[in-house]
Amino acid sequence: MVDSLKKPSSFDEIRPGVKRPAKETLLTPRFYTTDFEEMAKMDLSGNEDELRAIIEEFRVDYNRTHFVRDERFDRSWDDLPAETRQIFIEFLESSCTSEFSGFLLYKELSRKLKDKNPLLAEGFNLLSRDEARHAGFLNKAMADFGLSLDLGFLTQNHNYTFFKPKFIFYSVYLSEKIGYWRYIKIFRHLEANPEHRIYPIFHFFDNWCQDENRHGDFFDALMRSQPQLLNDFRAKLWCRFFLLAVFATMYLRDRASKFYGILGMNSRDFDIEVIQETNKTSGRIFPIILDVDHPKFFPLLDKCAAGYLKILASAESPTPTFLKKIQNLPTIASMGFNLLRLYLIKPIDMTKQAGIVH
Ligand SMILES: [Fe+2]
Ligand SMILES: [Fe+2]
Repeated sequence: MVDSLKKPSSFDEIRPGVKRPAKETLLTPRFYTTDFEEMAKMDLSGNEDELRAIIEEFRVDYNRTHFVRDERFDRSWDDLPAETRQIFIEFLESSCTSEFSGFLLYKELSRKLKDKNPLLAEGFNLLSRDEARHAGFLNKAMADFGLSLDLGFLTQNHNYTFFKPKFIFYSVYLSEKIGYWRYIKIFRHLEANPEHRIYPIFHFFDNWCQDENRHGDFFDALMRSQPQLLNDFRAKLWCRFFLLAVFATMYLRDRASKFYGILGMNSRDFDIEVIQETNKTSGRIFPIILDVDHPKFFPLLDKCAAGYLKILASAESPTPTFLKKIQNLPTIASMGFNLLRLYLIKPIDMTKQAGIVH
């Protein structure tokens, strides 16, 4: 057991056994804050029945006994090669940080709305319960490798991004739904290829992803109660923006990750499938979705990813920082241009699709 706590030496610790959180970049998980007053004043009557039904389902708490560490965890992981351990710890940290970011936002919302909008407050409180479970489960997994995150330290030292409530809805809805598709696809891949299941946490991804799916449905119902967020020209522009931002973030980050390789997956194929599915799911609520089948869509994302990898490689070089910044300018400009070209690909208007009521 003591041996299994051997740490990979390349990680920096804030104190013994506690990992210094990974450096924040544009692509690492964000922490959010919002305008709580505006959220509190929100009138939910337009879709209150559906919201109540979803909250009732949260109360049932299908996964109350799901996140229990069983005997499968009770062994040493020393047989994992050092590089695999390192890549896997990075995956656990990034997942734990993003689950914890959900917890913090939902918990804060439930606290601030408690007296002013009790229905919404209860919904957020139940969402935060699930995210706390997810983050805690991942942090315990990190501890199996001799490192964990100090979530209190993370709360105080992470930067918070302010988003107006409507932007919280668009982006958090998408991250819940993309989370669902990511977890279920990894789960199914490992069911079919169990020899690549390097650690038992992946057994838990099936019921886990159902939590994320329900969370997404909660935001779907919330947005339906505010039709002004979905039915005008600006809504179409913003939905298009957030779809591209969420897809591009995942796509670029995953091109730089070796994690999928250790699970025997092709990360590009995986991302393409996740993007196609999440895009399709979003069409149930967003007035537009992206034309991800457009022949230029993924090739343009590949060009952006190539630029991102070039910038990452330059970060490793001994060139002075100011010189690197100058050297990277053309790459950044071309990434920006390609993202703009992606944004300008004609989207699919869901309000015109037969049989879809918005
Ligand atoms: Fe979660
Ligand atoms: Fe979630």
